[in-house]
Amino acid sequence: MLDVRFSASSLPASGALALLVAEGAAPSGLWQAADAATGGAISRGFASADFTGKEGTTCSILAPGGGLNRIVAAGLGKDGEISERRLEDAGGALAAALAREATVSLATDGLSGAQAAHVALGAVLRAYRFDIYRTKEKPEDKPKFAGLTVLTTDAAGANAAWAKAQAVARGIFIARDLASEPPNILTPIEMSNRIEKLSALGLAVEVLTPEDMTRLGFGALLGVAQGSANPARTVIMRWDGGRAGEAPLAFVGKGVTFDTGGISIKPAAGMEDMKWDMAGAAAVTGLMASLAVRRAPVNAVGLVGLVENMPGSNAQRPGDVVKSYSGQTIEVLNTDAEGRLVLADVLWYCQEKFAPRFMVDLATLTGAIIISLGHEHAGLFSNDDDLAAKLTAAGLASGERLWRMPMGKEYDKQIKSDIADMKNIGGRPGGSITAAQFIARFVNDKKWAHLDIAGTAWATKDHPTVPKGATGFGVRLLDRLISDHFET
Ligand code: BES
Ligand code: MN
Ligand code: ZN
Repeated sequence: MLDVRFSASSLPASGALALLVAEGAAPSGLWQAADAATGGAISRGFASADFTGKEGTTCSILAPGGGLNRIVAAGLGKDGEISERRLEDAGGALAAALAREATVSLATDGLSGAQAAHVALGAVLRAYRFDIYRTKEKPEDKPKFAGLTVLTTDAAGANAAWAKAQAVARGIFIARDLASEPPNILTPIEMSNRIEKLSALGLAVEVLTPEDMTRLGFGALLGVAQGSANPARTVIMRWDGGRAGEAPLAFVGKGVTFDTGGISIKPAAGMEDMKWDMAGAAAVTGLMASLAVRRAPVNAVGLVGLVENMPGSNAQRPGDVVKSYSGQTIEVLNTDAEGRLVLADVLWYCQEKFAPRFMVDLATLTGAIIISLGHEHAGLFSNDDDLAAKLTAAGLASGERLWRMPMGKEYDKQIKSDIADMKNIGGRPGGSITAAQFIARFVNDKKWAHLDIAGTAWATKDHPTVPKGATGFGVRLLDRLISDHFET
C-alpha cells in the first residue's frame, strides 16, 4: 500500500508537488508559494492548458523549476460543492498522473484534516496493483509512486480520519487480491487458509470441512462441490467489538472459486471471468478484516461458502434433486445456477446459528443483473425497507451504488418445481429477481438484503479510485453502513 504521512504545511524543495484546485476558488497559500518559487510556472501552466479545476480534470507541469520534478493539479469541481466522493476521485486522478514519481507532496491547505484523508484514500485506492505474478517487468515500466506526504494544517484531524480510512483500504485490498488470484491458486482450501491467517488481526475464524457439512446436511452446497477435485469449505469469521451478548450483524458471501457452469457448461469465450465468482466472499472477508483493523465497536459475523463448480465425473446433473440444510428440496435444472445453492445452505446456517440482527449477502449471482443495471449499480433486493434505505444511502456516500429491484409472489411462482419444493432456475424473464426469490426462501423471515454484484465486482477500465480489475465492491459500502448506523 502506498505509504501516506501527514505533516505540517511547508513547500517541498524537491520531488513532485500535487495541488487540488476548486473552480472559482482563490489560490491556497501553498499554491501561491509554489507559484512564486517556480517563477510563475503554475499560473502559466494552468493558463496554457485552460485548467480551471473542473471535476475530473488534471493538469501536469513538468520541470517547473524551484527544484521540483513536476507539479500536478487535480480539479475538485465547483467550490462549495466539494463532497467526499470528489475529494477521493481527485486523489485517485493525482495517483494516476503521478505514477512516474517516487515521492509526492500533496498540498491540502484550505481543507480539513478529514478532507485531506479522503484525498489520500482516493490516491491509495487508485495506486493499487496486483503484480505478484509479473517476473519480467522492467524497472522503468513499474510505477514508482510509493510515498505520499500530505501537507496539512490539521495533522491531528487527518491522522484520526486516516486511521479509519486506512483500515478500510486494507480490507478493500484483501478483497481485490483474493478476486485477482488465478483459480488454480485460489481453490476453496487456499481461500480458507488465507482467511484463517486473518485471525492475526483479531478475527475468530472457524472452518467447516465437507465432513462437517455432510454431518450438518448442506446438501445444496455440497451438490455444487461434488464435481470438483477441490473440496469445499465454509468459513465463519467473527468480530466481537460491540457489547457482549448483543446479536451480531451478518454478512454472507458467494465464494465460487471457479464457475465452469458444471454439466450445464458455459461457453469458452470469457469463461476466465469466472475466477472472480468468489468476489462476494472476498468482499465479506475484506469487510471483516477492516472491522478488526479499525477495532470497530460492533459485533459482526462473516460467512463464506467456498466451492468450485466443475463438470467432473461425479458432478451433479440437470434434474438432480438435493436436500438443503433447511430441509427444503431443490430440483437442480441448471447446474450453472450454483451460487444460489451455495447461499441457501450458508444463509440458513447463519440465521440458525447466530440469530443475527440482519443478514446481507453479496454474490456475483446473475448475468441478468448486468443487463438490468450495467456496471454502475449493484442490484439490491430486500425484505426490509429500512435496511434497504440504509444500504442505498451507504451506497451513495461510499460511491458503491445500489439500485433496489422488486420482489413478489408472482416472481416466486417462476421457481415452482414439478417434483420438489422449488427449482433453481426461473426462466429468462426477471432472471435476477427469481434468483433473489430463491435465496429469500432460505432467510427464514430474518431481515435480509441481497446484493447482486455480478456487474460491479470487476472493472474493465480504470475509474478514478478503482484501477481496471477486481474492485473490492462491497467493502466500503458495508463498512459505511456499519459506521453510520450500527456502532455502539
Ligand atoms: N457466476 C454466474 C453469474 C455471473 C455472470 C457473474 C457474469 C459474473 C459475470 C452465475 O453462477 C451464473 O452462471 N448464472 C446464470 C444463471 C442462469 C443459469 C439461471 C446466468 O446468469 O446465466
Ligand atoms: Mn454459474
Ligand atoms: Zn456463479
